[in-house]
Amino acid sequence: MPGPFIDCLDRKPVSHTPFWFMRQAGRYLPEYREVRSKIKNFLELCYTPELAVEVTLQPIRRFDMDAAILFSDILVIPDALGQQVRFTEGQGPSLGELKLPKILATSEEEIHAHLKPVYQTISQLSQSLPDNKTLIGFSGAPWTLACYMIERKTSRDFAKARSHAITHEQEFDQLIATLEKAVSTYLIKQVQNGAEVLQLFDSWAGITSVAQFRKYVIAPTKRIVETVKKQCPQARIIGFPKDAGVLYVDYANQTGVDAVSVDFHTPLTWLSKQVDIPLQGNMDPLVLAGSLDHIKRDLEHKLEAMKGTPYIFNLGHGIVPHTPVEHVAFVSDYLKQWQAA
Ligand code: CP3
Repeated sequence: MPGPFIDCLDRKPVSHTPFWFMRQAGRYLPEYREVRSKIKNFLELCYTPELAVEVTLQPIRRFDMDAAILFSDILVIPDALGQQVRFTEGQGPSLGELKLPKILATSEEEIHAHLKPVYQTISQLSQSLPDNKTLIGFSGAPWTLACYMIERKTSRDFAKARSHAITHEQEFDQLIATLEKAVSTYLIKQVQNGAEVLQLFDSWAGITSVAQFRKYVIAPTKRIVETVKKQCPQARIIGFPKDAGVLYVDYANQTGVDAVSVDFHTPLTWLSKQVDIPLQGNMDPLVLAGSLDHIKRDLEHKLEAMKGTPYIFNLGHGIVPHTPVEHVAFVSDYLKQWQAA
């Protein structure tokens, strides 16, 4: 029995609207903070299978979501390519100097030997999850990864990365091609180790020009989807071109993804009329952190609007750390009883 999440992606009838939350494992959970407090560098948590398995399963135990997402981070790819990544408390990621020749020279063996603990985590998770819970693997998409690699930290607009793509086009193209290859193999290995669904996070898809969106978001995603599906035809792929606006339509129609995850300012009903694939997401994480009244109204509105169309409930971006755990429990209970009512 594959469970409601896979059924929904396959456009089959479901007993309730399947759901999970981006960043469902994280600092809003006391049991996560407990594990996290014992680890100095955040990436160590991602590279220690026993701990990564434990924090992946924590939200499932508490809230019984339909899917567990591998606990890791999108920045393990630059780290595996030899651009060291660190996380400093309260400041987010900081990346070492970008040495392009070194990155282009990193072999497939080196990259995937570095990522071996991630594959072990997936394999252990796939053995411990019941059949009706879906295991989601993921990767950052090339554009978003390149943004972090050039900017070397998080940013409001990634202006340095965006202008580098224009002024050093050839170099940038080489970086994107290298990332495309590393991400494709990374995702294939995740499926070979037990991931059933893959999500491609293109968190900074919304800052591109239209031309950049076509060249660096749509085109690499399309090639990654083709490569992964050729090796693993059973894998379902969800794309998340965050803040893509009207370009969500071309992304959904042209990349070959099985579903798209929708940020919180794109109207679900508008998008569902433009595209013919399942949609996921769309609740504002600040609504989830806000009040039960707001949550109930927002949920009701989304569920009514998406009635009869394949829809996976999720947020439009990750859970924020100050989210009360009772709010997540409320959504879980609400979704399970909704269709029965
Ligand atoms: O969703 C999950 O529960 C799975 C785990 C997951 C994490 N990061 C854990 C994490 C996933 C899928 C990600 C993806 C990720 N990481 C993205 C794409 C989604 C998005 O948010 O747009 C991005 C851009 C990153 C990069 C990243 N990682 C940043 C900018 C930060 C710092 C901001 C922050 O919230 O601290 C991280 C750190 C991070 N990744 C944490 C977690 C639980 C918090 C680190 C900690 O516990 O100290």
